[in-house]
Amino acid sequence: MDLRSFRLRKTTDFTIGILGGGQLAKMTAVEARKLGLNVVCLDPHEEAPASMVSHQLVGSVNDKKKLLKLNELSDIITYEIEHINTEILKEVIPQDKIYPSIEVLETLQNKFNQRKFFQKFGIPMPSFKEIDSLDSLKDCIPCVQKAKVGGYDGRGVVVIKTEDDLKKAIKEPSYVEELVEIEKELAVIVVRNIDGNIKVYPVVEMVFNPDGNLLDYLIAPANVDDFTTKEVQRIAVSAVEALNGIGVFGVELFLDKKGRVLLNEIAPRTHNSGHYTIEACETSQFEQLVRVLTNLPLGSTYQYLPAATLNLLGEVGYKGKPVYENLDKVLSIEGVYVHIYGKKETFPLRKMGHITIIDSNKDRLLEKVVKVKNLIKVKGEVKI
Ligand SMILES: Nc1ncnc2c1ncn2[C@@H]1O[C@H](COP(=O)(O)OP(=O)(O)OP(=O)(O)O)[C@@H](O)[C@H]1O
Ligand SMILES: [Mg+2]
Repeated sequence: MDLRSFRLRKTTDFTIGILGGGQLAKMTAVEARKLGLNVVCLDPHEEAPASMVSHQLVGSVNDKKKLLKLNELSDIITYEIEHINTEILKEVIPQDKIYPSIEVLETLQNKFNQRKFFQKFGIPMPSFKEIDSLDSLKDCIPCVQKAKVGGYDGRGVVVIKTEDDLKKAIKEPSYVEELVEIEKELAVIVVRNIDGNIKVYPVVEMVFNPDGNLLDYLIAPANVDDFTTKEVQRIAVSAVEALNGIGVFGVELFLDKKGRVLLNEIAPRTHNSGHYTIEACETSQFEQLVRVLTNLPLGSTYQYLPAATLNLLGEVGYKGKPVYENLDKVLSIEGVYVHIYGKKETFPLRKMGHITIIDSNKDRLLEKVVKVKNLIKVKGEVKI
């Protein structure tokens, strides 16, 4: 069945299949459930987070048999991860049944292809070039070396400022980018449906603590001028349109010291930088995805109140069954929303949940962020 040909009518008759059963699938499933839809996810780990609110097939997203089963059970399919074998997907899933399309996924999966693709459309980006050998890296210093495929959470990205840094060089197929003098790292969620209707959310700023991960958080709306906000939204929308993307897209950008806005990368899925939309916006990024997948009208992206998101990462030094310290204290603060993904095991820096904090006053919001951050800890039953 083509997405254009149906609009959700008999809700219980409709099943969304999701490749991956992690937190993004879980939060999508919650929204689908609200609309009375069925959800089935495919994830190799038994009792994956999404299984709390959906059916789960246990297996790899690259397992043809499991994909066939998922295809059989689902009316429409999406994915919460990008590292999927698209050749197998193409064999198993009809192309008008999966969104964003496999073509879009293929363009974005390889960071170098992604850059080449957007270059054709004149999207502003850091300059970049392919390197034929590690020797040629030396001539590019200072630069950022990136693995073409497979990188996430900063793995597969190496900043090379001196010859000494060449020791850290990536051995896999890679390319280099201009080392951008970053003023701020920004992100924005763009939603686009099959009719080409677009919704764009407020811009988010990722705030990093220079002392090393002590107080990293995201804040929405970003602390930037109107011109920058519009530029970020314009570039992000142009990029999603260039892709002819249908779905929810997490777009990461840089604002450099000269005030230029540059596209960093796009994820063809809901994104950590859009979690605040659950509590702070009229329609969350997850509900928008469900609306796209069921061809229902897109919702308003209006943000009610300033919001911040803290990632709940596994404490260094612990593993095993997670123990959430000071949950009670954190939950007694007004405007604090705790999301625990339900992962069975913690390990150092594993994403175990997130907390969204909202407040009408930005100073008070930041005070709360610091307070919550200092209180909550995800430890494990086993010390390592
Ligand atoms: N060209 C660049 N110039 C300067 N810094 C960069 C550049 N590209 C990436 N970085 C830095 O490296 C980080 C990770 O890069 P990127 O987003 O490409 O990788 P990733 O592995 O997809 O990370 P994540 O999964 O966290 O988004 C960026 O957030 C930014 O801080
Ligand atoms: Mg990134």
